[in-house]
Parts: sequence; C-alpha cells; structure tokens
Amino acid sequence: MFEKLEFINVTFEYEGRKILNNFNLEINRSEKLAIVGSSGEGKTTLIRLILKYITPHSGKIMVNEKPLSEFKNWYKILGVLSQRAHIFNRSLRDNLLIANPVATDKEMHEALEKAGLKKFIKTRTLDTILGSDGSYISGGERTRIALARLLLRNPELIILDEPLEGVDKLVEKEVIENIKEFVKDKTLILISHRFSILSLTDEFAVLENGKIVEKGKYHEHSNESLLKQFFRAEQELTEKFREDDVL
Ligand SMILES: Nc1ncnc2c1ncn2[C@@H]1O[C@H](COP(=O)(O)OP(=O)(O)O)[C@@H](O)[C@H]1O
Ligand SMILES: [Mg+2]
Repeated sequence: MFEKLEFINVTFEYEGRKILNNFNLEINRSEKLAIVGSSGEGKTTLIRLILKYITPHSGKIMVNEKPLSEFKNWYKILGVLSQRAHIFNRSLRDNLLIANPVATDKEMHEALEKAGLKKFIKTRTLDTILGSDGSYISGGERTRIALARLLLRNPELIILDEPLEGVDKLVEKEVIENIKEFVKDKTLILISHRFSILSLTDEFAVLENGKIVEKGKYHEHSNESLLKQFFRAEQELTEKFREDDVL
C-alpha cells in the first residue's frame, strides 16, 4: 500500500543544466497536491523521475521509506496521465484493455463517458481503429482516452500532467467533477495552470529554479506567488475579453 513519496535533495540535469537543484518534496497517502510552475521549469522532468524513466544525479527518491529503485509493484500503485499518452494502432477496446485486461464492454463505456467521451462513443464502437499513434483522433480525445484508461485501472497514486489539454470548456466541468469523485480516497499529484482543475487539490507547490519555493493552501501563498500571478492573469484575460465585447 502506498504511504509516502519523498524527494530528498534531488538534483537532475540535462547536458550540465540543472533542472532540479536540491529539490525536496513529500507527499503522503490521500494528500492532493498541485505543482505549478512556468513552462520549462521541470514539472514533466519530475514526473519522469517518479516514473523511473530517468534517475537523479544526486539525492534520493523514497517510497514508504525505501528507495524507489527497490520498491516492488511501483507501476501497479501508480497511474499517470501524461501530456502525450501513447495510442496504439488498434481498436479503442484494445487501447483500453491495456489498462485493465478484464474490463467489460460496459465498464469501458462507463469509463469513456466519465472521461468526457460521451459524444465520441455515440458515433463509434469499441472496435473503431484509432490509427498509427492515434492519428485518427484529436489531441483532446487522446487525453480523454488516457483518462478512461486511468479510471479502468484505479491506481492508488494518481499523477495528472496537464490533463485538460485539448479539452474544451463545455466538457471540462463534467470531466473535473468525475475526476474529483474518482480521486476522493486516493493520492493526487496534479500539474496544471488551469484554475478550474486546481479545485481538485488542497495544496499548491510552486516550482521555480529547480526547487519548491512556496507550498501551502491558496490563501497561504504570498501575493507575489506564481500561483496568484497565474490566477490574476487568467482573470484579467477573461475580463479583457468581456470589455472588448468578445464574450
Ligand atoms: N531530453 C531532454 N534533453 C535536454 N533537455 C531537456 C530534455 N527534456 C526536457 N529538457 C529541458 O528541461 C527543462 C524542463 O523541461 P520539462 O520538465 O519538460 O518542463 P515543464 O514540464 O515544466 O514545462 C526545459 O528547459 C526543457 O527544454
Ligand atoms: Mg510539462
């Protein structure tokens, strides 16, 4: 059972450039944490470390007080929705069975609906072929298929990296509600700039210059916090459109 994930003084570099620099972070069972940071600050790198695709140059990543590298069944505990989920040139059914080989058609339909693909599945069947690396589907559909996979797998620790990319505002609200229900008793690490989805988390950590520079509930962040800057920018943009009578 998952209890705790810890980064202790982790440094990771690409070609001598330090992306994470003495990075420290702890997340405990059933906590819901958002990580915000400007583009290129290393959010996806952090996820890749958790996935063991890459390993730290120094420092430690621990799971339940044991080194991540020695932890068994890590991929069973972990469920990741990444920015570019892989789609196989097979049927929609096969693409979902990867996540859970014993899922029934009914369960697959339910997962697709919860992931915001109600309309998509109305005009297709589970036998529909998705094309080489998903060339027959849109970016937003790809993300939602990845989300349906996650729902079917039901992992303990969930990592969402920009999960609403390519998903329009009309389905967004419903999908967020479904994710909220799904993550209720689970641990969540979320990466996003969109404030609608940040409502899924209780705590926000700001990643800057390779470190977490502020962490806490929204009201605990300083006015200069990147989190609040993102929030103000989103509000200002919406107001600007209104003023211009575009909305
Ligand atoms: N494979 C790679 N080789 C070299 N540099 C990389 C590689 N992957 C990412 N980077 C660089 O590392 C930095 C952090 O990238 P990333 O973790 O993807 O940022 P974020 O997800 O926060 O936008 C960026 O400057 C990016 O250009
Ligand atoms: Mg990224």
